[in-house]
Amino acid sequence: MLTLSMEDILLLVSKYYDILLASILVISITALYLSKVSSKAKDSKSCIPGNLGIPFVGETFALLSATNSVKGCYDFVRLRREWHGKWFKTRIFGKIHVFVPSVEGAKTIFTNDFALFNKGYVKSMADAVGKKSLLCVPQESHKRIRRLLSDPFSMNSLSKFVQRFDNMLCERLKKVQEEGKSFTVLDFNMKLTFDAMCDMLMSIKDVSLLEQIEKDCTAVSDAMLSFPVMIPGTRYFKGIKARRRLMETFKAMITNRRNGKECHEDFLQSMLQKDSSPKLDDEEIMDNLLTLIIAGQTTTAAAMMWSVKFLDEHREAQHRLREEGLSILRSKRNGVLLTMDDLNSMSYASKVVKETLRMSNVLLWFPRVALSDCSIEGFEIKKGWHVNIDATCIHYDPTLYKDPMQFNPSRFDEMQKPYSYIPFGSGPRTCLGINMAKVTMLVFLHRLTSGYKWTVDDLDRSLERKAHIPRLRSGCPITLTALQDE
Ligand code: HEM
Repeated sequence: MLTLSMEDILLLVSKYYDILLASILVISITALYLSKVSSKAKDSKSCIPGNLGIPFVGETFALLSATNSVKGCYDFVRLRREWHGKWFKTRIFGKIHVFVPSVEGAKTIFTNDFALFNKGYVKSMADAVGKKSLLCVPQESHKRIRRLLSDPFSMNSLSKFVQRFDNMLCERLKKVQEEGKSFTVLDFNMKLTFDAMCDMLMSIKDVSLLEQIEKDCTAVSDAMLSFPVMIPGTRYFKGIKARRRLMETFKAMITNRRNGKECHEDFLQSMLQKDSSPKLDDEEIMDNLLTLIIAGQTTTAAAMMWSVKFLDEHREAQHRLREEGLSILRSKRNGVLLTMDDLNSMSYASKVVKETLRMSNVLLWFPRVALSDCSIEGFEIKKGWHVNIDATCIHYDPTLYKDPMQFNPSRFDEMQKPYSYIPFGSGPRTCLGINMAKVTMLVFLHRLTSGYKWTVDDLDRSLERKAHIPRLRSGCPITLTALQDE
């Protein structure tokens, strides 16, 4: 998903005003001619409908405008699907994008990831998260790095994380409830997931260090899809500076661990442990520490925020979830932290997590580039075209999910058709943090519903502008009441 900030666009427009004007004239004439040619081609079954607009510009401004609106960037996709049908193509920043709306299409792309399709190279992204990041490395390194990173994210290894996270969450919920004031769930969750991840990854507890790292990670994340020019004041410039600071911090931590000044039971220590198998080098560790934080924080925090919103709107589901949570609590001694066994027994809660992820579509679509000419479901795709697996369209497909816009966790009593439920993607690039995200959401839902009731203090459903991850503009402010006070 692509954006440039208004400042980037204005800078470009003012710099190249005359060239732009002349180009638009020439291009418009060409486009008129091309659209005539393409409308003839539309008759062909293999041709994907859609409006490519004028060369380079295409429908870029329409996407930017949707991203800047409170309806969110998926409105761009929704409208085009209304105009052109389920399959459509468009042109954004000079590249042709096809939105792939079906289970069969998703299967074709996921099962041929790296072979026929790959993530496109985005310079700003590689500069921001680093060339050794899982998001940027080529297939062979990807396989090796992913294998070496995976163990701490397996269900077995996460039991310690569950207890540390549970403890952190209980303290924070108690504090905001005792204050008795309205607080924003999104901000609460952003801080919570960030602190919990830094604890799990690097055992960082120092408050001012956490604040600095969070600020820098946000700047890096903002730079990932920015215009890659080192001009002071731009998102790219700020992101690259922030990355340098982060790398220095991570390097110092690694040095302290290597020379024995510090030792912790965490992800970083497990990456540095010496044994016979080959390990990741320091650059690989540092780039991927940054990648994990960026990939994990906002996604999980937004999903948790949506669960609060959906449960507020569906009291029967909230009630059922609370009953399940309270029955688990009754079987435990007072104040004892949750275990992995407890989480495994939360059968309704795990359906609430699934339904939240289906409805909220934290990652709206998954972009890939075709590495050669190919066809998906009979539609011709040219080498170099971007194919976006449209997870949102699949999750809202009424032939796959009855009443798809209805929040109904019980729909997951039944098995799902392969590739019809893909909030974490699939194939070699399946989300590395899938287990961590699930246990985080389960603990959060359990503590919130079995300890408290809440009122949502702003019912506005508008989305945050310029966000790639759909989030409520209000951040979902709530006020908590402890159940025992009722
Ligand atoms: C609700 C929370 C989350 C959602 C919905 C989510 C979703 C996804 C999806 C859909 C992908 C694949 C994108 C693609 O195929 O292009 C992905 C990749 C990834 N996710 Fe997550 N994610 C979540 C949480 C996390 C967490 C907590 C972490 C880490 C601690 C994480 C780390 C990653 C990484 C490293 C990748 C890249 C994997 C690779 O390319 O091999 N994610 N995530």
